[in-house]
Amino acid sequence: MAIALALLVLVVASVLFHLVTPWWTTPLASNWKQMDDTLTITLAITGLFFVVINLFVAYTVWRFRHRAGQRAAYEPENKRLERWLIGVTTVGIAGLLAPGLVVYADYVHPPADARVLEIVGQQWQWRFRLAGASGKLGGSDARFVSGSNPLGLDPADAAGQDNVIVLGNEVHLPIGHPVKVLLRSHDVLHDFFVPQFRARMNIVPGQVSSFWFTPTQPGRFESMCAQLCGVGHPDMRGYVVVEDDAAFQAWLKQQPTFAATQAAAAPAAAGAGTPAALGRSLAQTKGCVACHTVDGSPGVGPTWKGLFGKTETMVDGSTALVDEAYLKDFIRNPKARAVKGFAQVMPQIELTDEELAALVAYIRSNGKPS
Ligand code: CUA
Repeated sequence: MAIALALLVLVVASVLFHLVTPWWTTPLASNWKQMDDTLTITLAITGLFFVVINLFVAYTVWRFRHRAGQRAAYEPENKRLERWLIGVTTVGIAGLLAPGLVVYADYVHPPADARVLEIVGQQWQWRFRLAGASGKLGGSDARFVSGSNPLGLDPADAAGQDNVIVLGNEVHLPIGHPVKVLLRSHDVLHDFFVPQFRARMNIVPGQVSSFWFTPTQPGRFESMCAQLCGVGHPDMRGYVVVEDDAAFQAWLKQQPTFAATQAAAAPAAAGAGTPAALGRSLAQTKGCVACHTVDGSPGVGPTWKGLFGKTETMVDGSTALVDEAYLKDFIRNPKARAVKGFAQVMPQIELTDEELAALVAYIRSNGKPS
């Protein structure tokens, strides 16, 4: 009797909790109401089975409870009942799976007039690329990746020259236009997700994955990485700004094309750049900026603002002056010393002696004025 009552309370409490739940989904800001509908169908089917099965168990526990002198009947086969159960289960499972198949088929087949947006994930930052006037994205390959070409675009591909490169973690999109998203990763599995758009997709190293959506609400939406991709995963955030077409076009004009970034990098490549400028570009390509800020805000590792010339405290209580020798030793062998307040997670990075000197010069340029 107690068990039957407990099951009854469980069912009633679960249904009540759903009706007065303190949790809800963020307001929808894209065309993917189908995602919400699919979830609602799933919840309705699983919820119905949950209620019916638990009430049935509660009823049988009460109805067939032990009474003196009663004997259980043995009935191992019941064809009619089995047919019913198989039928109902089949309908239930089909109801759970079929809507998802329909929505997914739609989700990966963008309309022909969709604007192409490429999103490139790297531990632990986002970069973006939009097609230029030609509407085409140029080819890319990991072997083209360099300090001035962090997305690895093919310099010889004419289609890539007018591509708009966004190196920050914020991208703008015009409201009401479908966007076809192409996703690439430079290292491990990531996942681009904006909860308000209901749209997300895994980013698998070595392949291009894709989905599409139409933003329907203006605003600044936070995007996150939805696959655990290492110690900096919670910091792998970005923004999608949805605005009217005029504001979007104005923003787009301010972003450099691939050809412009290559022209700007040419003098540096020819040796005209200072070591600090080279170091700054290395900090981008080697991924240092994912953990080290230069504006003083906290990251996975110490900020570089004011780092040079400061006295750092180690976990064992000893102290060390952050100078050129200290930085070079630390970068070459990050596991040798543990700095107080930071996890020992910095990877060893391949750098030539010149690159190391340039990187240290850049860190120094963010340090205390000497
Ligand atoms: Cu990238 Cu988590």
